[in-house]
Amino acid sequence: SKIMLSGIKPSGDLNIGGYSGALSQFVALQHDYDCYFFIPDLHAITVYQDPKELHQRSRDVAALYVAAGVDPNKAVIFLQSQVRQHAELSWLLETQAHFGELSRMTQFKDKSGGKDTVSSGLFTYPVLMAADILLYQATHVPVGDDQKQHLELTRDLAARFNHKYAPTFTLPEPVIQESGARIMGLDDPSNKMSKSNPNQGSYVSLLDEPSVIRKKFSRAVTDSDMSVRYDWEAKPAVSNLIEIYSVFSGDSIDAIEKRYEGQGYGTFKKELAEAVVSKLEPIQKTYHEIVHSEELDRILKNGAERAAEKAEQTLLAAKRAMGFVTF
Ligand code: TYM
Repeated sequence: SKIMLSGIKPSGDLNIGGYSGALSQFVALQHDYDCYFFIPDLHAITVYQDPKELHQRSRDVAALYVAAGVDPNKAVIFLQSQVRQHAELSWLLETQAHFGELSRMTQFKDKSGGKDTVSSGLFTYPVLMAADILLYQATHVPVGDDQKQHLELTRDLAARFNHKYAPTFTLPEPVIQESGARIMGLDDPSNKMSKSNPNQGSYVSLLDEPSVIRKKFSRAVTDSDMSVRYDWEAKPAVSNLIEIYSVFSGDSIDAIEKRYEGQGYGTFKKELAEAVVSKLEPIQKTYHEIVHSEELDRILKNGAERAAEKAEQTLLAAKRAMGFVTF
């Protein structure tokens, strides 16, 4: 069977980059797979998280999954920290991962910035991610472009383990969209849109008020050429806005270029903001209804139980393959 798994870290405001690369895919693809959509809270703490904020954001991400359209009766939705098997398999896999291959992870290099006072968890982060995926024998992992290298490492670790011990893990495929897999900052099209960017104008949070969303798009950088044309080489900022428009409206890039032919950026930016607002408003409404509800607790509790059942089977198989005494 086809098994889909993915997650979004509760380490900042879930923004339209994460929506585009990940969450919109969860919603669109959920009916074709057995799905596990989790909240990687253990991954979030590789850099300091204020405990109150971690707590709130973990609920926020879960509520946003549901509000965006992930069906909790179909998909298993859970918090990573509530399924102990993740941490345990991660340790087993850490003994299989090479220091050198982890040193080559570009996300580690970017985030550590060469400092040796970063947490060692930041370094072993991709191994925990491999454990997340392999525990459920996931076949498909919908992610943005920046997670591609981590998926390759996951496949390498799975193949290495299967070869050294016994066939235990399924090798997963990344599912990366052609457009919308790498949304850039509204302030600078050479930087990925990121929830850890301290400049809040660089991203649109899924929970931003409509007035804030409109303001952020009106201030988004463009260029002096004044034509709405999709050309990443010559016009990266405008191309990025066109991609966002396409993700939120469902219109093709071509159709958007045609619609604004011969016009400047004014109307284009206004209507882009409206496309985003009209998608996010109903999501925000549902989010507010469920984020503090017992219904959400129930979904997460039930999800953790269902997840642990599956995870335990794989963990036991891995431990047996390695020679641990199990009963
Ligand atoms: P995270 O939390 O940084 O991002 C969540 C997902 O959103 C995608 N994404 C983007 N896509 C397009 N444009 C952007 N600007 C953008 N920003 C983020 C990311 O590629 C990702 O798919 N390590 C993961 C979380 C994780 C995970 C996993 C994912 C932990 N275990 C297992 C899949 C499977 C991460 O940090 O994503």
